Formats: sequence, C-alpha cells, structure tokens
Amino acid sequence: MEGLEIILTIFILATASSFAFASDPSPLQDFCVADPEGSAPNVCKGAALVTADDFSFSGLHIRKNTSNSVGSAVTPVNVAQIPGLHTLGISMVRVDYAPNGGLNPPHTHPRASEILVVIEGTLRVGFVTSNPDNRLITKVLYPGDVFVFPEGLIHFQYNIGNTHAVAFAGLNSQNPGVITVANAVFGSNPSISAGVLAKAFKLDGKLVGNLQSNF
Ligand SMILES: *[C@@H]1O[C@H](CO)[C@@H](O)[C@H](O)[C@H]1NC(C)=O
Repeated sequence: MEGLEIILTIFILATASSFAFASDPSPLQDFCVADPEGSAPNVCKGAALVTADDFSFSGLHIRKNTSNSVGSAVTPVNVAQIPGLHTLGISMVRVDYAPNGGLNPPHTHPRASEILVVIEGTLRVGFVTSNPDNRLITKVLYPGDVFVFPEGLIHFQYNIGNTHAVAFAGLNSQNPGVITVANAVFGSNPSISAGVLAKAFKLDGKLVGNLQSNF
C-alpha cells in the first residue's frame, strides 16, 4: 500500500472502532448479572445463582405522583432496578405528566438514544441539534405516536393536554445517565461562579444568583 492509503486505512479503522465504542459494548457471554456483593461494578454473579428475578421488575403500570415543581415523574428501569441488564446495552422508563403543563424538563442522556411512545395524553416533544445550528426539531404526539431523541442531544416532553399523560421509552444503554440542563448549570455543587453564568447566559449577576437559589 502507498503511504497515503495506509494512513487512510488506519484513520478509517480508528474512526470505526470509536463508533463501535460510542455506546454500551456488546456482551461477551449470555448474561452477566451485576453482583451486588461484587467488589467491582462489573463483577458477574455466578451463573448457577442467577434467578428469574434478576431479569425482572414489577410496577411499571403504577402512575407516579407528579405533584412537584415540574409536574412530571420518571420511573426508571435500568441496571439499578434489573441487575440482569448489566452488559446488555438496553433499559426503559415510564414517564408520567401532570395535566396542563407537566414537563419532563430539557435534559440529555450522555450514553443513549431514546425511542418514546405516548400511551395517554398529548405531548409537545422536541430536541435541539448541536452547534452551530441549534435547530429545534419538535412535534405534537398523541397516543400511539413514537418519537426518537438522538444520543446526547437536549430534549424535553411537555403535556399540552388537559388530562394526565403517560409515555414509555426504550434507551440503548443499561445506564443511560441523565443531565437535567437547568439543575446541572444552576444547581451544581459547588456552584459555578455567577460571573461565568452571567457571561454565558448574557444575564445580570443578580439574576444568576436568583436562578441558583431555585435549585
Ligand atoms: C403527591 O405528592 C404531594 C407532594 O409531595 C403530596 O402532598 C400528595 O399527598 C401526594 N399525593 C398522593 C396521592 O400520594
């Protein structure tokens, strides 16, 4: 091979492998039930000790209380609830939304794309593309409608109906992670300095202090 071809081949291989490891890796065995007694998080429970309960969760039919400041509640079903999800690269959630404005506020999942289906109610959903466009892609969803939020992008769901709303979603990580934008920015511990946030958000420092005191 010519020098340039070799460099291109190395580049393509490197790029392909970085894509392969962008999300959860593929399993190396049938299952690796997370061992609660394990000294490291990636220790598998002995296969002979594994039971059906390690692959099971109950209660996703239960409506969660949405009487909170945003008017929504998430019931997660990831590796923390089902140890058998360990190494499998999937998880799910139920989200309940209060009538007239229940909001799952703008957030991202650093390790997963999400596919959401509305079961009850009417949701305005959307996500924003990365810089420099920051384009909002948004739609109103009714029962039976499905919408996809690509990995890492900021997204939200807002109940624009006057009834309770319910959605379920699947995510391609055993532990998708959640970063709620407002909480991370204005509620970090310890706080990001007001000067940094004032400049970033083009706000008065006093207003930043008010925002921080809400989190
Ligand atoms: C829902 O939560 C609110 C606030 O914590 C509480 O006042 C209310 O009693 C709860 N409702 C139910 C049905 O549990």
